[in-house]
Amino acid sequence: MEPCPPPLRRPPPFLLLLIIILVSPTFAVDFLINSFTTAINATNLTLINDARIDTSTVRLTNDSNQFSFGRVFYPTTLRMKPTSNSSSLSSFSTSFVFSVLPEISTSPGFGLCFVLSNSTSPPGALASQYFGIFTNATTPTADPLLAIEFDTGQNPEFNDPDGNHIGIDLNTIISTQTAPAQYFNSSNGSFVPFNMRTGQNVHAWIDFDGLNFEINVTVAPVGVPKPSRPTLNYKDPVIANYVASEMFVGFSASKTQWVEAQRILAWSLSDTGVLREINTTGLPRFFIEPPSSSSLSPGAIAGIVVACVVFVIFCGSVLYLIRKKFRDESEDEIEDWELEYWPHRYSYDELKQATDGFSNENLLGSGGFGRVFKATLPNQTEVAVKCVNHDSKQGLREFMAEIESMGRLQHKNLVQMRGWCRKGNELMLVYDYMPNGSLNRWIFDKPQKLLGWRQRLLVLADVAEGLNYLHHGWDQVVVHRDIKSSNILLDSEMRGRLGDFGLAKLYEHGQVPNTTRVVGTLGYLAPELATVAVPTASSDVYSFGVVVLEVVCGRRPLEMSTEREEEEVLMDWVRELYGEGRLREAADGRLKEEYNGEEVEMMLKLGLACSHPDPSRRPTMKEVAAVLVGEEAGAAPGELLNELACGGGGGSGGERV
Ligand SMILES: *[C@@H]1O[C@H](CO)[C@@H](O)[C@H](O)[C@H]1NC(C)=O
Ligand SMILES: *[C@@H]1O[C@H](CO)[C@@H](O)[C@H](O)[C@H]1NC(C)=O
Ligand SMILES: *[C@@H]1O[C@H](CO)[C@@H](O)[C@H](O)[C@H]1NC(C)=O
Ligand SMILES: *[C@@H]1O[C@H](CO)[C@@H](O)[C@H](O)[C@H]1NC(C)=O
Ligand SMILES: *[C@@H]1O[C@H](CO)[C@@H](O)[C@H](O)[C@H]1NC(C)=O
Ligand SMILES: *[C@@H]1O[C@H](CO)[C@@H](O)[C@H](O)[C@H]1NC(C)=O
Ligand SMILES: *[C@@H]1O[C@H](CO)[C@@H](O)[C@H](O)[C@H]1NC(C)=O
Ligand SMILES: *[C@@H]1O[C@H](CO)[C@@H](O)[C@H](O)[C@H]1NC(C)=O
Ligand SMILES: *[C@@H]1O[C@H](CO)[C@@H](O)[C@H](O)[C@H]1NC(C)=O
Ligand SMILES: *[C@@H]1O[C@H](CO)[C@@H](O)[C@H](O)[C@H]1NC(C)=O
Repeated sequence: MEPCPPPLRRPPPFLLLLIIILVSPTFAVDFLINSFTTAINATNLTLINDARIDTSTVRLTNDSNQFSFGRVFYPTTLRMKPTSNSSSLSSFSTSFVFSVLPEISTSPGFGLCFVLSNSTSPPGALASQYFGIFTNATTPTADPLLAIEFDTGQNPEFNDPDGNHIGIDLNTIISTQTAPAQYFNSSNGSFVPFNMRTGQNVHAWIDFDGLNFEINVTVAPVGVPKPSRPTLNYKDPVIANYVASEMFVGFSASKTQWVEAQRILAWSLSDTGVLREINTTGLPRFFIEPPSSSSLSPGAIAGIVVACVVFVIFCGSVLYLIRKKFRDESEDEIEDWELEYWPHRYSYDELKQATDGFSNENLLGSGGFGRVFKATLPNQTEVAVKCVNHDSKQGLREFMAEIESMGRLQHKNLVQMRGWCRKGNELMLVYDYMPNGSLNRWIFDKPQKLLGWRQRLLVLADVAEGLNYLHHGWDQVVVHRDIKSSNILLDSEMRGRLGDFGLAKLYEHGQVPNTTRVVGTLGYLAPELATVAVPTASSDVYSFGVVVLEVVCGRRPLEMSTEREEEEVLMDWVRELYGEGRLREAADGRLKEEYNGEEVEMMLKLGLACSHPDPSRRPTMKEVAAVLVGEEAGAAPGELLNELACGGGGGSGGERV
């Protein structure tokens, strides 16, 4: 007796969960996983690091690990090129349902990405904002790694347009092309935006057309049929450089301290041409519905499952609300827009602790912009915390957009900004600590130790270099707007560094409309600002000229004269002496032994040239730096200076503001 042939098909083990996995004999990859059950394990999926099967989904990160990442791959590779030398690519289509649910809706993580990689563990892959798949390289080599990101957090340093977009990533976190999360509605012919970070189930389709080197990505809330036009269309033969002949397909996600659940609920893929559609009706839901809509109409079991999930989430959110309320009493509420600048944000408690509760012993100084404290971070680094009070939240917000780019300005002659924090309308900016304080303290009044002539020249050259970097060393001209001796700080080697760049702008952003308020400091303001009120690089040059004069003369730009009972303008006085050919007499008398007259003359001429009343006749910082740095190196100041000085000598008064 021959044994009976086995039954062709066994009934599915789970009533509601439909799982079909087919691997055709030609090694084509074609599968549909409509639900991830525990029966699917290492033989059916490659789960890496923190990825795991959880409530019939793949959960990618572990909430309790700060730098958690997880990846899931289909164990069989896709044959993407007929031979490894070939430049033609194969095609495939995939469709999946995912959910991204941040624990705190205003503090999303980074979302997740669909990955095509020759290795399930790409070397150098980083967690945090790198999706657990990319290195921190911003100019990558052409390794076989291509990802499509579903990004729910904005990282301005990676040029993210917002915190809710999709993007094509060719072996780097910096997307080649991005598109906002939206779907095309053909009945009214427009794109409808939606939010991918509410935890709602999102249906995504990726059509990879190897023949035309084209990738179409389409996203829509689950339930919406596949839109007729993709959300993102990318076409470039360069993708062939990022695809090897055998590629793994899967998903990856990572987190930092913000907890976010990234889940894959269902996944279908085919490289044979016909993609099997996911049945989205019975999928679990992690989205907290607004109370008005209630449409729980599936079967009893699905109802119970959904109810349980909702209940668990409800409990979680009640706990969270309680915690949040508790926390709110001590800490200021974090607003949506602030998190977009997350990389540099310090917590208020952290700064409070680092400054011993903003104690008077740690007060370094106070001035027009607020108070500055010395702080010691837990790792023993000393920093300076500048507290700026501001009455307009809108002004703060606009200013924040600039902090981000200011944080990226780096130069040996700038005081490096390390981060920021906000509490109410108070902004705290964290800078490197400058142990020797500001330049004015070494020159005016009765300094403990007078700054010598050589050192003054070095500091002025340093400031010129720093300002030259702001004006010319960056893709945009950064106007400082408040150059003065108290904004020039001396580091541990007594070299000059420019502080507070851009801060004056905060006040401009916050200004009440219709009041034209000039920002800056009296005595340093270029005369044209009284009429046009638009600070330019040239008005910075003017202020720098005033600083040169005060450093050389050892006098403040505006001083009350004891004899005449009126304000004496340093500039007018120097110009007068210049007119009378007695320029050398203007030099700081306390330094008699140290300087030679020629240097004094040269520096004063430079100062006068920079503070020429006509902006068009002032030199640029590039020219000034060339003179000063050249001088420092012992080279002759050359023709340039004479030229400049001639321009500066002719001017008369009128720069009083
Ligand atoms: C995977 O699950 C099957 C049952 O579905 C079980 O027999 C097998 O041992 C499991 N393999 C691993 C690696 O867990
Ligand atoms: C997982 O893979 C194993 C081995 O290929 C197979 O026997 C099993 O049926 C698969 N499990 C499911 C749930 O598809
Ligand atoms: C998350 O990580 C912690 C610590 O590494 C571990 O104890 C815990 O079991 C993990 N949780 C899950 C769900 O894997
Ligand atoms: C692929 O290139 C290698 C060397 O670059 C060559 O030896 C090999 O024959 C090529 N294979 C095919 C199929 O063209
Ligand atoms: C993936 O590609 C890179 C770069 O071509 C290569 O160095 C690496 O060995 C490949 N890894 C695997 C697993 O094939
Ligand atoms: C990338 O990471 C390496 C090692 O962690 C580090 O040395 C390097 O400075 C980082 N590069 C960038 C651009 O952040
Ligand atoms: C498409 O637009 C029409 C008309 O505005 C609207 O009735 C319909 O609900 C929309 N469909 C989707 C899926 O948004
Ligand atoms: C199209 O329909 C969507 C969804 O109903 C709606 O939000 C959108 O405003 C409509 N657009 C236009 C141009 O009518
Ligand atoms: C991608 O979308 C464009 C329209 O935007 C369409 O012309 C093209 O055929 C699509 N390609 C694939 C592979 O779906
Ligand atoms: C989809 O799943 C639901 C239950 O989850 C089932 O009732 C329905 O028949 C399925 N639809 C298809 C087309 O298989």
